[in-house]
Amino acid sequence: MLDHRTRMDRAKKEKVEQILSEFRLQEEDLKTIMYRMQKEMDRGLKLETHEEASVKMLPTYVRSTPEGSEVGDFLSLDLGGTNFRVMLVKVGEGEEGQWKVKTKHQMYSIPEDAMTGTAEMLFDYISECISDFLDKHQMKHKKLPLGFTFSFPVRHEDLDKGILLNWTKGFKASGAEGNNIVGLLRDAIKRRGDFEMDVVAMVNDTVATMVSCYYEDHRCEVGMIVGTGCNACYMEELQNVELVEGDEGRMCVNTEWGAFGESGELDEFLLEYDRVVDETSLNPNQQLYEKIIGGKYMGEIVRLVLLKLVNENLLFNGEASEKLKARGSFETRFISQIESDPGDRKQIYNILTSFGLMSSITDCDIVRMACESVSTRAAQMCSAGLAGVINRMRKSRCEETMKITVGVDGSVYKLHPSFKDRFHATVRQLTPGCDITFLQSEEGSGRGAALISAVACKMACMMGQ
Ligand code: BGC
Repeated sequence: MLDHRTRMDRAKKEKVEQILSEFRLQEEDLKTIMYRMQKEMDRGLKLETHEEASVKMLPTYVRSTPEGSEVGDFLSLDLGGTNFRVMLVKVGEGEEGQWKVKTKHQMYSIPEDAMTGTAEMLFDYISECISDFLDKHQMKHKKLPLGFTFSFPVRHEDLDKGILLNWTKGFKASGAEGNNIVGLLRDAIKRRGDFEMDVVAMVNDTVATMVSCYYEDHRCEVGMIVGTGCNACYMEELQNVELVEGDEGRMCVNTEWGAFGESGELDEFLLEYDRVVDETSLNPNQQLYEKIIGGKYMGEIVRLVLLKLVNENLLFNGEASEKLKARGSFETRFISQIESDPGDRKQIYNILTSFGLMSSITDCDIVRMACESVSTRAAQMCSAGLAGVINRMRKSRCEETMKITVGVDGSVYKLHPSFKDRFHATVRQLTPGCDITFLQSEEGSGRGAALISAVACKMACMMGQ
């Protein structure tokens, strides 16, 4: 006979499972999401439908025909997450093509007021960081070529010119949207006046990741980020990129798939928690797909689920702590830590204690179940997007079996203990006839930007600029 307590705990867990079952996606659901994503991708590429498409499919001006590259020192900037990074990268030529080595780098945290003040404040802060970096390494006198990894939706006119369509991921600096970002950077450097830079390329982090992996594996024609935000790029036939003239070869397209769902494509899959996350975000009704997957939001979804379970009297004896009630307090890294618990629940218990919560064994198990539901859904949602991209590529290349490599970066992908495995398994399930290799990128943002700049410098030289 089970004792009373054990029976109660079992009944509780069953009720919790029922509440969490909303997060479960069937294969049919994933296929529906994948087809809708493909439809939006198609609309994003076409001139006629581009404006209204939720997935913008932005041309990057990074092309498939390698022109060779300059060698030497390049400065890379990386803006897009919670930190801003400056990096010095040496690009050289080896027998197997270009190599790149990061020689020096420095991370700067971005103060809240720089993220949400004016664009001038943000770019002044960025140029202050560059100046500090150059001082530290006694390089103020050098006018280096600079590659800027700027991880937001940008409509490019060329590799070194593009306007920011909208901020994402908690950035909100006014006066940047609709403006040329390279121009804002150049102006800020000029305003400071204590160093000079030759800004040659601006790239998205997905693009930098893909390019940095390409040098290790020439089959790498897709780049993906699952970090604070979520996005992918891939090499598309230029003839399908209607926004750019020309028919020969391929161009890298930044899908900006994070915006998927803005035209209602995800409506029947959005849960009450997703709606609250969206409504309380800095960009309501935008980036709905990203808000299901990205690390900026995943912890907050879990927090809302935990509060719901408390309200239903299924967790923490029906009482939440003040800290758990505070918006944004449950960071996504806690999900990784909780799901990494080896089974003795110590790690889970400690995290909950730091939230001022007295937790029983059952509470620890329930919190873990909530984390697993949210992170598994994120991995599956993300799989549907990538499968959409890869199936599209296979179709346009008319290959029986397409061998392809995907370069990946981002904290959720790298640090969560099982996101990767669940993600890989679901992508493979949805892409018959494709042989996919996943390549984890190391410092892809900085190195990729340097390599793209090196190619751009060579092009400029060849054209006598
Ligand atoms: C941005 C993308 C970026 C992604 C990953 C999204 O919020 O819109 O441009 O690639 O985050 O950093």
